[in-house]
Amino acid sequence: MAEIIDGKAVSAHVRKQVADGVKGLSESAGITPGLAAVLVGEDPASEIYVRNKRKACEDAGMYSEEHRLPEETTEEELLALVHRLNTDDKVHGILVQLPLPGHINETNILRAVTPLKDVDGFHPYNVGLLVEGHPRFISCTPHGIMKMLEYYDIDVKGKEAVVVGRSNIVGKPVAILLLHSHATVTICHSRTRDLGEVTRRADILVAAIGRASFITADMVKEGAVVIDVGINRNEQGKLAGDVDFEAVKEKASWITPVPGGVGPMTISMLLWNTLESAKSFAAGKS
Ligand code: GUN
Repeated sequence: MAEIIDGKAVSAHVRKQVADGVKGLSESAGITPGLAAVLVGEDPASEIYVRNKRKACEDAGMYSEEHRLPEETTEEELLALVHRLNTDDKVHGILVQLPLPGHINETNILRAVTPLKDVDGFHPYNVGLLVEGHPRFISCTPHGIMKMLEYYDIDVKGKEAVVVGRSNIVGKPVAILLLHSHATVTICHSRTRDLGEVTRRADILVAAIGRASFITADMVKEGAVVIDVGINRNEQGKLAGDVDFEAVKEKASWITPVPGGVGPMTISMLLWNTLESAKSFAAGKS
């Protein structure tokens, strides 16, 4: 029976550190870290995320602003807003909520955010720094996963890590972070042949596929650490991860639940990155 990796507990720990850091920066430099979130259209999941973000910023003593734009906003209009935020001194972090409506080129927008305020870590400059091993902003979900492993003293060095999913937001960056922590890393995806054969090798299994209960117990090695990044609705409309939690928890040594696992960490690491950005501005490094 697996022990639970409690994302809410780790999150509370990180948010306390962030709140202390915000207070310290305000006292030492008179700067309040600020985060601007941009939401285009009305995706319900994004609405919830942005609302939670605002509340988390307030709780941590940060300045936060939201820019809600209609679905029909043009790429030029969105670029103009991003350019304005790039030079706004109150704003140390800029987050453009994904997905964007289909008529807007996501790559163009993410590249327009100055790398110095790119608290999502999505700009190619920050991706490059991460791959090179000197990260400035690590994207929030992968960063949160590594924090959870660290908090529970789960050793990664020399272990077989298997990441299922190759997105720019989670799969690719978490694979790089695990590699930097000296794991032997395999990335699997929808075209991987005999997926179960690969996942059964994993000491650490990260599931970031986006399909409810996709990872079944027969795909998991006895004693594996299982990290579930998925947030899906199953056929009954209930929230479900990418892992068949009830069955897999009997086999794993550690497991993250959904909800209450990776989810809360994403916003915590966003606050963390925003504080780090504000500190760099205060130190005149930006
Ligand atoms: N959509 C889903 N996850 C994320 C995230 O971490 N950042 C942004 N900007 N959009 C997302």
